[in-house]
Amino acid sequence: MGTIMHGDNNLDSNNSSTNIKETYSGKAAIVTGASRGIGRAIAIGLAKAGYNIAGVGRKVKSDNSGQGLIEMQCEIESQGVDFLPLQMDIADICRHKSVVADVINKFGRIDILVNNAGIAPAERKDVLETTVESYNTVMNVNLRGAFFLTQIVSNIMINHKEKCNDYCPKIIFITSISAKIPSTNRAEYCMSKAGLSMAAKLFADRLAGEGINVYEIRPGIIETDMTAGVKDKYDKMIAAGLIPQGRWGLPQDVAKVVNAIASGSLDYSAGGIIDVSGGMNIGRL
Ligand code: NAI
Repeated sequence: MGTIMHGDNNLDSNNSSTNIKETYSGKAAIVTGASRGIGRAIAIGLAKAGYNIAGVGRKVKSDNSGQGLIEMQCEIESQGVDFLPLQMDIADICRHKSVVADVINKFGRIDILVNNAGIAPAERKDVLETTVESYNTVMNVNLRGAFFLTQIVSNIMINHKEKCNDYCPKIIFITSISAKIPSTNRAEYCMSKAGLSMAAKLFADRLAGEGINVYEIRPGIIETDMTAGVKDKYDKMIAAGLIPQGRWGLPQDVAKVVNAIASGSLDYSAGGIIDVSGGMNIGRL
């Protein structure tokens, strides 16, 4: 097998710790940011569909919020699949290689990568006052982290594909309606998601010929901890007609689309962008 590149680091797939196992007990998905919100719903949805889950998160055990990876273990394993909790800050790209090797060691394969982990700016500030610190923090997680993790996983998928015919891996990027619609009080978030949308397009183009489909899912306003601080504001905007379908999105709305992709229903739609925004994508005047 070839050598897997990650920036300046080589991940030699001949290394015994990263060899893809010859016997496959089941399909496996990596979900980043799996401990809560949209990522948690995606991980549970894929577990219900029979995927073993490697859940990446910042915390293995929560501080009593019930939102650590360990707390997910029972929920995932009650579906009759295995769960691998992986503590990693997605911004720490030096850790990617070993974390992906852990997934291969445990499951022998990666069928789906869901790039879900993401953060909003700690403080919403006008674009004229965006700080360098907030810009770097948001970009490093939302864009740089997801891009380089995808690079590593893509190379592993390509190697695996060469050895196995019955293998249709997929990569999914959870971007945002903010990839397209500006909010001047969180420029760094919008730019990170616009960049991630292009990353999805680039990988989709490069990997389609390899038999690896890449998709972008663009959620609108989803009820999670991320939006808890602006709930009142959005409640009012939704009541006033912001969302054509007239309600908040739920994490399960996004998870259902991931399951549709996983099922193969969108197999002739490489590079597809799926809006999950209750019609906000229509863009009314
Ligand atoms: P959330 O804040 O509830 O959950 C985010 C998850 O990502 C958590 O599990 C968190 O631990 C993990 N995470 C954050 N930074 C990380 C890091 N550096 N390394 C590893 N894991 C990290 O957010 P939510 O709402 O579930 O969002 C999930 C994704 O969906 C994000 O990418 C977000 O930008 C996107 N999104 C959310 C929308 C919403 O309205 N909630 C709308 C559009 C997109």
